[in-house]
Amino acid sequence: MDKKIALLKDKINQANLGGGQARIDSQHKKGKLTARERIHFLMDENSFEEIGMLVTHRSTDFGMEREKYLGDGVITGYGTINGKLTYVFSQDFTVFGGSLSETHAEKICKLMDMAMKNGAPLIGLNDSGGARIQEGVVSLGGYADIFYKNVQASGVIPQLSAIMGPCAGGAVYSPAITDFILMVENTSYMFVTGPNVVKTVTHEEVTSEELGGASTHATKSGVTHFACANEIEAINHVKKLLSYMPQNCEEIPESLPYEITDESRIELNTFMPQNASQPYDIREIISSVADTYSFLEVHKDFAENIVVGFARLAGRSIGIVANQPAYLAGVLDSNSSTKAARFVRFCDCFNIPLLVFEDVPGFLPGTDQEWNGIITNGAKLLYAFSEATVPRITVITRKAYGGAYDVMNSKHIGADMNYAWPSAEIAVMGAKGAAEIIFKKEITTAENPQEKWLEKEKLYSNIFANPYRAAERGFIDEVIEPSQTRIKLIKAFKMLENKVVNTPRKKHGNIPL
Ligand code: COA
Repeated sequence: MDKKIALLKDKINQANLGGGQARIDSQHKKGKLTARERIHFLMDENSFEEIGMLVTHRSTDFGMEREKYLGDGVITGYGTINGKLTYVFSQDFTVFGGSLSETHAEKICKLMDMAMKNGAPLIGLNDSGGARIQEGVVSLGGYADIFYKNVQASGVIPQLSAIMGPCAGGAVYSPAITDFILMVENTSYMFVTGPNVVKTVTHEEVTSEELGGASTHATKSGVTHFACANEIEAINHVKKLLSYMPQNCEEIPESLPYEITDESRIELNTFMPQNASQPYDIREIISSVADTYSFLEVHKDFAENIVVGFARLAGRSIGIVANQPAYLAGVLDSNSSTKAARFVRFCDCFNIPLLVFEDVPGFLPGTDQEWNGIITNGAKLLYAFSEATVPRITVITRKAYGGAYDVMNSKHIGADMNYAWPSAEIAVMGAKGAAEIIFKKEITTAENPQEKWLEKEKLYSNIFANPYRAAERGFIDEVIEPSQTRIKLIKAFKMLENKVVNTPRKKHGNIPL
C-alpha cells in the first residue's frame, strides 16, 4: 500500500508542477501568478477541492503522445468564496500555453454541468493561447461545447470571467457570453484577430495592448466591465461582485443585518445646483443614499453618461442605474443604453431589485447616433426595463425629458414606485426649446423676439418645469424632500420584497439586438 500511496503522491506533485518549474518561473517573470496561485487567492482557505487533476490529452499527432501533463492545462474544482459554494476553472499557461484541447474543454464542461445542477456561480480564470493547435478541429469543437453550455447557464447561475493573460480568437466568446468580464492591465488582452492579422488585412499597425488590452476594452469597446491594476485586485473584485449576487436564479441575494435609525440625509436638501444646467456628479447622491462604502461601480470608464453598479440599502443588495449629469449632461446615447440594458437584465435574472436615479435631458442628437442605431440601442434599455419583474423604483432628481422620461424606468413601463424631488422637471423638452416651437409665430412677429422668447420660456417652465403635473396624474407616486430619499427607498423596497408578476406565456422575447 505504501508504494501505491507513494505513486499517488508522486502524481499529485507532478500535477502541481504543471508544465514544470522553468515555465512557472517564466510566468512569474511576466508578472503573472500561476493558475494554482490564483485559485489560492480566490477561494476561502483550504476550501478548494480539485476535480480531474489526473486528466491528460488523447492527442497522438506531432508526437504529442510523448508530451503529457497531468491536468492538461486547466485546473478545475469547487470550494467556497465568502463561505458560499463556487466552481472555478483556472487555465494553466505553463502547459501548452494554457491552450484548449479536447480534454481541457471536457473538464470545463463537466464543471459547468455541476455548477448548473447544484446552482452555484462559475468563475473562469482565463490565461490561454487559444485552441490547441496540434489538435485541430476537436479543439474547436471543445470551444463550441463550452459556448453552448455558457448559454445554457446564462440566467441560471452567475458566470464571471477574469482574463489574466492572452484570450484570443474563438476563446473570447466564452467570456463574452458570461455576465461579467474583468481584465488585468498590461498582462491580459482579448481580440478576435491579433495585431499580425490586423496588419495584413487592414494595414493598421497596433500593439496587443492597444488593440485589446484592459484599458482599451474598459473605455473604447466596453467588452470588459473592470480593468484591474493587477491580478490580486481582479480576484478581490470577483469576490466583491459575488457578494451582491444570489447563488442562482431561484434564490435572492443575501441581506446583511441592518438596524434602521435616523436615515435622513440632510445634505441632499441643498445638494441640487441652483442653475438647472449646472452639472453634478450623480455618484455623490448614490453614496449619500446607499449604505456607506457599499457602491461597486460596474463599467466605470465606458459610456460615462450613465452610471451602473451594485450597492446595499439597509443591507439589501440592489442594482443602481443612474444618469450622470457630469458627463454629456447625462444624455442617453447608444453606448449608455446598451450598457444599462445589459446591467438591468443581469439584475432581473438574479432577483436583484433595481433603483434608478433620473436626470436626463433626452437622447443625444446627431448623425453619428442615428446612423449607429440609437433607435435600436435605446430600445434595448426600454425593453430591458419593461420586461424586468424585480422590484423597480425610480427617483427623478432633476430632468426627465422626452422619450428618455419613458425609458428611464417610468411608471408606464412597470416601475413600482416613482419618486421625484421638488427640483424635478418632467416635460417633453426643456422650456427654451419648447417655447421656440410652440410660440414660433408669436416670437418671430414680436417687436422684441428675444424678450418674447424669454417670456414664453418662463411660461412653459412654470407649467412643466416641476414634478406636480406628473404627480397629479399619479405618474409620480410621491414628491419627496431629498433628505428623505434613503428612508423612503428602504421602506419601499421592503414593501416590494414579495412582489410577484405574472408574465404572458412565451418562448422568449425578441429584444432588439
Ligand atoms: N496550442 C498549442 N500550444 C501553444 C498554443 C496553442 N494555441 N499557444 C501557445 N502554445 C505553447 C507554445 O508552443 C509554448 O510552448 P513551450 O512552453 O513548450 O515552448 C507555450 O505555449 C508558451 O507559448 P509562447 O509563444 O512561448 O508564449 P508567449 O507568451 O510568447 O506568447 C501567445 C503567447 C498566446 C501570444 C502565443 O503563444 C501565440 O500566439 N499562440 C498561438 C495563438 C493562436 O493562434 N491560437 C490558435 C487560435 S485560437
